[in-house]
Amino acid sequence: MSAGSGAAPGGGNDFHSGGGDASAHGDGTRVVHAGVPAAVAGEPFLPSPVFGAPYHLDPVAGPQTGVNGYGRTDNPTYRNLEQAIGELEGGECVVFASGMAAISAVLLSTLRAGDAVVLPSDGYFLTRAFAAEHLPDRGVEVRTMPTPGPYPALDDVRLLLLETPSNPGLDVCDIADLAARAHAGGGLVAVDNTTPTPLGQRPLDLGADFSVASATKALTGHSDMLLGYVCARDPELVATIRTWRARTGGIPGAFEAWLAHRSLGTLDLRLARQTANAAAVAELLAGHPAVASVRWPGREDDPAYKAASHQMRRIPGVVTFVLADKAAVDRFLTRSDLVFAATSFGGLHSSADRRAQWGDDAPEGLVRLSCGVEDTDDLVADIRRALDAALD
Ligand SMILES: Cc1ncc(COP(=O)(O)O)c(C=O)c1O
Repeated sequence: MSAGSGAAPGGGNDFHSGGGDASAHGDGTRVVHAGVPAAVAGEPFLPSPVFGAPYHLDPVAGPQTGVNGYGRTDNPTYRNLEQAIGELEGGECVVFASGMAAISAVLLSTLRAGDAVVLPSDGYFLTRAFAAEHLPDRGVEVRTMPTPGPYPALDDVRLLLLETPSNPGLDVCDIADLAARAHAGGGLVAVDNTTPTPLGQRPLDLGADFSVASATKALTGHSDMLLGYVCARDPELVATIRTWRARTGGIPGAFEAWLAHRSLGTLDLRLARQTANAAAVAELLAGHPAVASVRWPGREDDPAYKAASHQMRRIPGVVTFVLADKAAVDRFLTRSDLVFAATSFGGLHSSADRRAQWGDDAPEGLVRLSCGVEDTDDLVADIRRALDAALD
């Protein structure tokens, strides 16, 4: 675990398709070069977006393997992005129009009538809502379990979906241990890797079959697009997900894919600052009288610290804390100049969200605070003023 760069264990090896080994490089180098094609004189570093819906076909040969035919299945811009994310996750990537498009693709393409799925009881609430609304009618039994445990038997489960750290509680589970338990019964394991990003955690290395994420958050980090992806190593699973996307059509637009790829180059820098800011902010929160409790897996006294240190390469910039009530959160958000009230995380701008307003099973005063890349001293001073106001 570290807040800065370091070579990922078993990193991708498609470095510019030139035989170089990306895993020999640090995170900063890897994200700058991930998915960038080999240099061609006169061409831009990152090819510009390709906007085709139909492409010209050979009038005689018709559709040909390896030649672009139609935009729902063929697009060079999102292929480059898939190459980049795949290198970082250590698998093959299929990008989607949003995180929920990616998560629903995993659930609906792997589960059949008679199967059981286990979801985190404390993870992203829309994943549970989607499962509750759409899976029981299709004959799938939906179970839940808390991220920090205790865990039920997993030997009759077709799909185990983990989210670690969980959102918004920031609890951590041991992916390798739970993957082994689910695999022993023949089940598949997916990990929602949205909060850590592949620089913070590589679920496929830890035994998961799928790493699935909302790239809307830290991966792209500029709060200007929605995007999701699924990564896997097993070619059959990759083909299942790719076919699902081709049939249901949840592809990202070419411009979003290009913008995401451009944004990826600063991931290492953004995460390093976000983590440094979160460490300073968590320290402030822990000592402030307005705060009833604080969670950040990077603090030594946090219940998730041990598991996170064992499994993660970096701790994300998200901190969760509890103020007295809704009125205290209102005062906090109104007083702060730098923390935007917003329901996302992982972006350049610090933002905070009172989770109970979205129906999360959370105390009225629980705030998920996403530290941006502002200067640490400025952010800490601003949040201290806002916390003082929350006490009034
Ligand atoms: C952990 C997690 N997974 C998935 C999603 C869904 O992603 P999207 O909003 O890109 O559909 C979110 C969104 O907040 C999330 O926090």
